[in-house]
Formats: sequence, C-alpha cells, structure tokens
Amino acid sequence: MLRLFDVRGRRVIVTGAASGLGFAMAEVLAECGARVTLADIDEERLAVSTGRLVDRGCDARSFVVDVTDESRVQALFDDVAEAQGGVDVAFANAGLASVPGFRVDGGQTLDTVQRSDWDKVLGVNLTGVMHTMRSAAGIMRRQGAGRIVVTASNAGLRPEPLVCYGYAASKAAVIHLVRQAALELAHDGVLVNAICPGPFYGTLIGGGVTEHPTEELKEAWATLIPLGRMAHPDELKGLVVLLASDASSFMTGAAYLVDGGSLVQA
Ligand SMILES: NC(=O)c1ccc[n+]([C@@H]2O[C@H](COP(=O)([O-])OP(=O)(O)OC[C@H]3O[C@@H](n4cnc5c(N)ncnc54)[C@H](O)[C@@H]3O)[C@@H](O)[C@H]2O)c1
Repeated sequence: MLRLFDVRGRRVIVTGAASGLGFAMAEVLAECGARVTLADIDEERLAVSTGRLVDRGCDARSFVVDVTDESRVQALFDDVAEAQGGVDVAFANAGLASVPGFRVDGGQTLDTVQRSDWDKVLGVNLTGVMHTMRSAAGIMRRQGAGRIVVTASNAGLRPEPLVCYGYAASKAAVIHLVRQAALELAHDGVLVNAICPGPFYGTLIGGGVTEHPTEELKEAWATLIPLGRMAHPDELKGLVVLLASDASSFMTGAAYLVDGGSLVQA
C-alpha cells in the first residue's frame, strides 16, 4: 500500500501554492517526501508558506510567477527541470474569482458581467492553466512520463448560483482542456486530470469570503451540498496524493469531484 502511494522524491510544481487549496497540495506532498516547488504571484505570502514547510524539514522551494505571463511560467518549469533534473507532477491550481460572484442572494446576473472582470478571471483560470499545461507538457513529453493536474471546480460541471459567470465558464473550459490534452499526451506517457472541488473554507479566493465564511454563506452552501457543509482544505489531500502517485497510473482525461455530493442533488 505504501509503495502504491509513494511520492517520495517526486519533483512537483504547484501554482497558486501560497494559500488555500494549493498550499494544502504542496503541504501533503512535501510531508510525504516529494520535492515541491511552490509558485505564486503573491511573493510575500509565498515566502511565508514555503518557510512553513522548510521549517518542518520538507524539501520545498518557491518561485514567483504570474501564470498569465507565458514566459515566466516557462521560466518556472525550466528552473525546476534544471535544478532537479525534471518535473514529475504539475498542479495548475492558481485561480481567482471576482467578489460579486460570491453573493448569497443569488449570485451574478448576465447584465452585471463586467468585461474587465471577465477578462481577468479567464486570463488566470483558463489562459494561465493553458500556459502551465503547455510548459509541463514540453518537459514531460521529453521525459516520456508525467502528471498534470488542473484545479477546476464543481461549478464547471453544473450551473452554480453562488459563483460569477466568468468563473463558471473558465472552470467548464479547463475541464475540456484537460480532456483534449489527455488525448494528445496519452501517447507520451503523460496523464492529465482535473480536480473539481466543491466549496472549501480556509482559502482566500473571492477576496477572502471563503477564509472565514459568514453563517449566511455557510448556510447558502449547505443547502446546495448533500453533506450539508463546506470542506476543509485537508479534505482534498487524499485525491492529491492519489493523482501524484502510481496508484493512479491508469487514470487520465477525467474530472474528479471532491464536492460533498453536489452533483447528485437536483
Ligand atoms: N475554495 C474553494 O471553495 C474552491 C472551490 C472550487 C475550486 N477552487 C479552485 O481552487 C484553486 C485555488 O483556490 P483557493 O480557493 O485555494 O484560493 P486562494 O486564493 O487561497 O488560492 C489561490 C492562489 O492563486 C494565486 N494566484 C492568483 N492569481 C495568480 C496568478 N496570476 N499567478 C499565480 N498565482 C496566482 C493567489 O495568490 C493564491 O495564492 C483555484 O483554481 C480555485 O478556483 C476553489
């Protein structure tokens, strides 16, 4: 069993790793012995988060990146490949949501979609993911092996009243991007999958509304989720280890829900 889920020595990159779900991914893999590079646009928080792992004796390093900047994303992958001899697993996790999306009174309406907001969300959540996948694929194809894991959302699989249009559209788009890339890269030994979280607290997305959610927000989510609550970032860690390890060697092109059952509810 331990050999099946062994990630020791795996060279891992996590974008959006300074906080929230990305930090949970970096944390569990580093604690399991992987060599993790935490990448994020937030330089200060990134240094603190990486320091927390280094202080615990983990093999963790950091790289400041804006995933909308294609050359900087390439520099991230080149840096890890040069320092560690390759990249085994890439988590394209960096993402954002616009604040109006998290209204508990029914979310965003089409007439309030702002073009600048739409472009910003799609720029990070879709174009940034494509940049990350492309840089990862270049290295992994040469290696003849690798894993790419994209953080999508349950909002990419069903209409979600509590998130904004750009966010929902970007998450649906990356799920299909994953399928497309999985087909292309299967012949190169590279597996590509999506994780679809439901609502998690303890993260900073949407201007921090999920960090310490109000009772009102918790109740709004509870009605949409059969398990009746938001999740803690630790609850994502099992799937993260699975997708980074040999235990998932025949899994590609899929979207895995960690959503408290949101999709089974009418
Ligand atoms: N929290 C949830 O309930 C939830 C649910 C479904 C999906 N997700 C997804 O999980 C991922 C992580 O979000 P989170 O909830 O942990 O939020 P978070 O805000 O705590 O983490 C997102 C991280 O991405 C970084 N980031 C933002 N723009 C970036 C850019 N241009 N380049 C590099 N880094 C950038 C931020 O600095 C931050 O550290 C996102 O893709 C989000 O859409 C979150």
